[in-house]
Order: sequence, then structure tokens, then C-alpha cells
Amino acid sequence: MREKRPVIALDFPAFDQVKAFLALFPSDESLYVKVGMELYYAAGPEIIRYIKNLGHSIFLDLKLHDIPNTVESAMRVLADLEVDMTNVHAAGGVEMMKAAKRGLGESAILIAVTQLTSTSEEQMQADQNIQSSLQESVLHYAQKTYEAGLDGVVCSAQEAAAIKQVTSEDFVCLTPGIRPKGAAVGDQKRVVSPADAYRIGSDYIVVGRPITQAIDPVQAYRTIYKEWNQL
Ligand code: C5P
Repeated sequence: MREKRPVIALDFPAFDQVKAFLALFPSDESLYVKVGMELYYAAGPEIIRYIKNLGHSIFLDLKLHDIPNTVESAMRVLADLEVDMTNVHAAGGVEMMKAAKRGLGESAILIAVTQLTSTSEEQMQADQNIQSSLQESVLHYAQKTYEAGLDGVVCSAQEAAAIKQVTSEDFVCLTPGIRPKGAAVGDQKRVVSPADAYRIGSDYIVVGRPITQAIDPVQAYRTIYKEWNQL
């Protein structure tokens, strides 16, 4: 099986910092990076083209959530950027997710956010008026995502096994909140090590600060890469 690259979250506010960070790696190395709202809204499609020209794969994490027609049109625009993966909020509903898939086509992996990991069960019940457990809501949204024909979900590693049980073994679980042993946890609440994420069944791990804020980011990436691939 092909070795899996950890997805590096490029949580930088500006283009220059991304350039400097990517320049640390050998020029023939292909990375998998995540571009989120902050960077995309600051730097626009230009940054996507720049990163692609360097030969890297891109997860464009924009979490679209709007009426189906608008999401379909927006996804058609994102398809032209030729990213490798992007996402929507499952709360937009099955029709919206199907529309997103139509707009994006088959060129990229399309996943959905179920409940944000920043949402507690109490907040979900009070703010969204969903009177179930958080876990039930996550599994419900995962099933709806599967029903809509999307490829998978963003979830915590702890949820991956249960999600695959109610969907399919092939249903992609992309998991942030990854911390190698000894790394600063920061604002993440429930963290899992790369090795544990592998054992639990994550398909992709997203790692930000343990790599981007490391004294030696390339070394930190290599360590996490090895742990994730059981090398
Ligand atoms: O620096 P750190 O490894 O915590 O970064 C994790 C990345 O994954 C950040 O870009 C964060 O926004 C994102 N993310 C997350 N939890 C989610 C969804 C996305 O941490 N549920």
C-alpha cells in the first residue's frame, strides 16, 4: 500500500509565510497540505495555483453551507482550481450535499463536517435544538453524508470506527486533533497520536502546529510521517 502523507494544516495568515514554510522542504518532495478559510480569504485562488505548481496535493477546507444551487455553483468554481479534496457542512442537508457533488464532479474527494469538534453536547442541544447525544448526531450526519454520495467526513479519531460501522469501511475519516507524544496540546481537547489514529482507522490525519510551530518543521513532519505509516 502507498505510504500516506499526513495533511499539514497551513494555518498562516499570509502568502509569504506559506512560501517560507514550503521552501523548508526539498523541492522534489510532494506534500499534502490543508488551506483553510483564513489563508484562502487572504490570498485567494492564487495561493492554490502556487501550491499546485510546487507539486503538492491540497485539501481546501472551506466548509461550504448554503442553498443547494449556490453550493453547486461554488463547487464548480472550486473544481477549476483542481484541488484534491474539499468539504461542506452536513447540516446543509442531503440535497445540498448532492448539489455540491454535482458541482465538484469526480475530480476531488468531497467530505462533510458533522458536528464541529468545538461544539459540546450542551451547546448542540441548546443552540441547535438537537435533543440527542453528540455521538448520535455525528453518526446521523455521517449516514446522511454517505446517503448523499459523498466520500467521507471530518471527525475525531475516536469516532472513526463507529462512523465506518454505520456507513462503509471505505468511507473516508479525516481526523484533526493529532498530537505526537510529548507535543503541546494547545486548544485541542481530545487528542490522539498518529500511531493511535492509524490503529483506530483514520484515513487521513491533519496536523498543524506540531509541524508548523516546530523548531525544525521538516524533522517534526518526518517523525509524524513515520509514526503514521508505522515505519
Ligand atoms: O494545529 P492543529 O494541529 O491543532 O490544527 C488542526 C487543524 O485542523 C486546524 O486547521 C483546525 O482548524 C482544523 N480542524 C480541527 N478540528 C476540526 C476541524 C478542523 O482542529 N474538527
